[in-house]
Amino acid sequence: MSILKIAIQKSGRLSESSRKLFEECGIKISNGSGSLKVIAGNFPVEILLLRDDDIPQYVEQRVADIGIVGENMVYEKKKDVAVLEQLGFAGCRLSLAIPKEESYPGTGFFMNKKVATSYPVLLSEYFASTNISAEIEELSGSVEIAPGIGLADAICDIVSSGSTLLTNGLREVEMVMKSQAVIISNRNLDPEKQKILERLLFRIRAVKNARENKYILLNAPEEAVEDICRILPGMKSPTILPLAEKGWCSLHSVVKEDEFWDRIDQLREAGAEGILVIPIEKMIL
Ligand code: PRP
Ligand code: ZN
Repeated sequence: MSILKIAIQKSGRLSESSRKLFEECGIKISNGSGSLKVIAGNFPVEILLLRDDDIPQYVEQRVADIGIVGENMVYEKKKDVAVLEQLGFAGCRLSLAIPKEESYPGTGFFMNKKVATSYPVLLSEYFASTNISAEIEELSGSVEIAPGIGLADAICDIVSSGSTLLTNGLREVEMVMKSQAVIISNRNLDPEKQKILERLLFRIRAVKNARENKYILLNAPEEAVEDICRILPGMKSPTILPLAEKGWCSLHSVVKEDEFWDRIDQLREAGAEGILVIPIEKMIL
């Protein structure tokens, strides 16, 4: 029987969330043992725990069939892999940062300066597109200390919470790209692996949809229902149930997580009361 080999980050920004995604997809990965290869108990996949920097190459060479990695790595490494799906976690920016005491007049700051980075490909594309000629100093890690030790004038690195910049006396001045975790795949999977991948993607989409949406319940007077239905787009149309109290009903629907605060203000203005917002466990469209 075929097994789909999946590369995920061993330790770092993506590793916890990648494991959690499989867990929420009902795929059990045993923890501990320190092994770099883990077979799932109840789904035909094998998890390879690797350095994120190496994942695009391993997927291209079919050491792993698919991988979970940041877009930053995929576009830096320029490997021939298919990007299948954005996963909505490990959001970050690839940004330029300078010592915080320096004044910043705009991108001209970087003219003829030395910039340390682990992303030479993306940074040189950025400098080419903004007509800046600067020297790129490639480092494989701890880029944030380069200005402090006189190795570079600025850095270009991943910023997530911003705390690494802060503790190193740097400030973000330009964004080169936005990034999040994605699934990448080898371009030549055999039909059996392709089938496992489809089953996996089905589960991942159900988890992703659930994360992006909330279930909402509210009470409203009958005369407000029409207005409220217009505010609540829902998966289809809202469910409307009568309440024991005459002239009142209960509405149930699904709202996008990122819109729901907006919607809630509009709903209250329209007359909604007793609003409950509930997380969704899985959502299959
Ligand atoms: C990035 C970057 C910083 C950190 C920034 O590393 O190099 O060290 O994350 O995060 P913060 O803004 O929350 O402090 P990454 O996770 O990409 O690790 P790696 O380069 O070691 O794989
Ligand atoms: Zn890395």
